[in-house]
Amino acid sequence: MSLVTTEHRDGIAILTANNPPVNALGHPLRAALAEAFAALAAETPRAAVLRCAGRTFFAGADVREFGQPPQPPAIYEVAAQIEDLPFPVVAAIHGGAFGGGLELALGCHGRVAEAGAKLGFPEVTLGIIPGAGGVVRSARLLPPRDAVDLITTGKRIDAGEAQRIGLVDRVSEGLLEDAITLARQLADDMPVPISKRDHPEVPSTDFWPAQEADVRRNAKGVEAPLVALDILQRAYAEDFETARRAERAAFERLRDGEQAAALRHVFFAERQAAKTAKGEGAKTIETAGVVGGGTMGAGIATAFLLRGLMVTLAETSGEAANAARERVQKAVGAAVKRGLVQDADVVMARFSVTTEYDAFSDTDLVVEAVFEDLDVKRQVFARLEDAVRSDTILATNTSYLDPREIGDVLRDRSRFIGLHFFSPAQIMKLVEIVPVPETSDASRATAFKLVERLGKVGIRAGICEGFIGNRILKRYRAAAEELVRQGVPVAEIDAAMRDFGLAMGPFQMQDLAGLDIAFLQREAARKAGQDVPDGLSDVLVRAGRKGQKTGGGWYDYREGDRTPHPSEEVARLLASHVRGSADMVRSDIAERLVAEMAEEGAQIVAEGIADDAGQVDLVELHGYGFPRWRGGPLFHAERQGAAEVERVLGRAPAPALAGLLT
Ligand code: NAI
Repeated sequence: MSLVTTEHRDGIAILTANNPPVNALGHPLRAALAEAFAALAAETPRAAVLRCAGRTFFAGADVREFGQPPQPPAIYEVAAQIEDLPFPVVAAIHGGAFGGGLELALGCHGRVAEAGAKLGFPEVTLGIIPGAGGVVRSARLLPPRDAVDLITTGKRIDAGEAQRIGLVDRVSEGLLEDAITLARQLADDMPVPISKRDHPEVPSTDFWPAQEADVRRNAKGVEAPLVALDILQRAYAEDFETARRAERAAFERLRDGEQAAALRHVFFAERQAAKTAKGEGAKTIETAGVVGGGTMGAGIATAFLLRGLMVTLAETSGEAANAARERVQKAVGAAVKRGLVQDADVVMARFSVTTEYDAFSDTDLVVEAVFEDLDVKRQVFARLEDAVRSDTILATNTSYLDPREIGDVLRDRSRFIGLHFFSPAQIMKLVEIVPVPETSDASRATAFKLVERLGKVGIRAGICEGFIGNRILKRYRAAAEELVRQGVPVAEIDAAMRDFGLAMGPFQMQDLAGLDIAFLQREAARKAGQDVPDGLSDVLVRAGRKGQKTGGGWYDYREGDRTPHPSEEVARLLASHVRGSADMVRSDIAERLVAEMAEEGAQIVAEGIADDAGQVDLVELHGYGFPRWRGGPLFHAERQGAAEVERVLGRAPAPALAGLLT
C-alpha cells in the first residue's frame, strides 16, 4: 500500500497516510505527502481532510533520522504547502499528534481531535525545539501562557485541554464525519491561515521575565526550553517569516549541539531498556507484601500504594509496625500535596501492617527490606517460603549482599530475584533488577513489568558488590577522596560537581545520607577477614562525624539548618592524610571524577554486569542525579574522547574504557 492515498467524498478529498507503526514523518512519508498535496492542488476540491491509518496520527519525526542530514521536503515545507492551498484542509487527529505531527496539523486550516487523543511538543525533552513552525504558529493560535506551557515543558495534553486553549477546534466521537463537516464549513468560510493571523492575545511587558524564571527552574540545565521561550517571545513581537527563520535557525543549532546528542542517547537507551523489560510469561502484580518498614520498606510500600497495589507490611513488633505505618502515611500525604494521588484515605485503605507472615498467604509478591544482615535476611526468606503461595515472587532489596547467598535458603529459587530500589523509594525512578542464576524468565519478566507499572525504570544488573550503581558510587567517592588527599578542598569538589550539573557534590551527598552506612559495611568486611583500608570518611566516623544527623560530617551544620559550612575539625582530622596542595580548576575536577565513574562503568559492561553503556548511563541518571543533558558518564567520556579522558585522569584509561573511546 502506498504511503498516502487520496479518495473523494462529495467534493471533499480525504488523504490517508499509512506508515506503520506510528506514522512517523520520515523522508519517504514527507515526500509522499508533498506529492499528494501537489496533485490535489491541481484538482482543487472544495476541501480536504488529512488523517492517518493505524493507531495514531503522525507521532512525530522518524527517530531513525535523528542525527542524519535532513532530506527535503522538511516538515515545515509540507506545512507551508498545506497552508497555501486555495481550499481548506482539516487535520483529523486520533491517537497522538506530537512534535512534527502537531506542526503539520498547525499547517492545516482546522483541527478535529478524537476524544482520548493526546497532543504535545516533546521536542525540549530531546534538547531541541519545534522547528517546523510549531513555535511561531502556536504564538498566533494560543494565549501566551498556554503556548509557553505547551512548548517549554514538552508535556502532553488531552483533546479537551487542547480545545480549551484553542489548539484544536473540536473534540469528536466520530472523527472522520466531524472532520468532513468542519471541512465543508470552512470551505464556505475559508479561514485565514494561522501564519497570517493576529495574535489572540499580546503579552504584557512583564510577562516574559516572569516566565523565564519559571522555565529556567524547570529546565534543570537543559538549554532548549529557554531557547523555545526566546523564540516564542520573538514570535509574538516579529513578523511571521522573520520569527519562523529564527525558529528554524535555533532548531538547527540545538539539533547539532551536545545537549541534543546526549538527550538522543538517553532516549535510545530508555527504548533499549523498555525492550529488555519485555519478556515471556510476565504476570501482573496486584497484591504485594513488604518485610521491614524502615526507610526503604516504607518507601517501597508507598511506591506500590501510589500505583494502586494492595500492600501488607510486616515488622518485628506492633510498635515498629505502627512506626512504619506512620512513615507510609507521611509519604502518602506528601504525594497528595504533589498531586500524584487525590485522597490519602483511599490510598491508605489498601494498606495494612502486621507482625505475622500469615498475612502474606495470598500476595503475588513479597519484597524484603530488613537490616542489611545476611543471617537476618536468610531467616526472613526461610520463613516466607512457608507462608506464601507457591507462585509468589520473592524479592530482596539488598544493596551489597550477594542475592545468591540470601536466596540459598529457598527450596524454589526460580521465583527469587533482587529488586534494588533507591532512596526515597517512592520518588527515585531507578530499580536495579538482579536475577540469580535460578531465577525463571517469567519471574524476571514479572519484575520488569512491576517496575514499569510503578512508573520506574528497571535496569538488569548482574551480581557483584554494589551491583551497577553503588559500585560506581564507591569508585566515585574514592576518587573524590583521592583528590582531597592531593589537597583539593572538599567544598571545591562539591562545587565542581554542582557546576557540572549534579544537584549535589559527593561529600554533601554523604552528609545527607550518613557516612556510617558505608563505614559499617567496611567494618563488616573487616570482621569477615577482608583487608579494607580506611577511607577518609572512616576517619570522620570514628571521630563521631556521621553526617547531618550528628550535626557534622564532611561539613559542619548549625542547628536546624542544612547549609554546609567548611569544618575546621575536619581539616584537623584529615591534615595528616593530605599530601599536597593540588590546584585544579573546577571543570577538571568534575571531568576527573566523571572519567573515573566511566572507567568503572566500562568495566561493569565488560564483565556483563550491565548490558551496555547506555544502561549504565541510565542507572546514573535515574538513581544518582547525573544530569540527563550530559547523557551519563559513559556517553560523556565517549564525547570527550580518548585524549581528553587521558588528560583528566593523568594516565591512560583502563582497557575496558579505552575500548569505548576513539
Ligand atoms: P532500616 O534500618 O531503616 O529499616 C530496616 C527495618 O527492618 C527496621 O524497621 C526493622 O525493624 C525491620 N526489620 C528487621 N528485621 C526484621 C524482620 N525479621 N522482620 C520484619 N522487619 C524487620 O534500613 P533501610 O535503610 O530501610 O534498609 C533496608 C534494606 O534496604 C537493606 O538491605 C539496605 O541495604 C537496603 N537499601 C537501603 C537503601 C538506603 O538508602 N537506605 C537503598 C537501597 C537499599
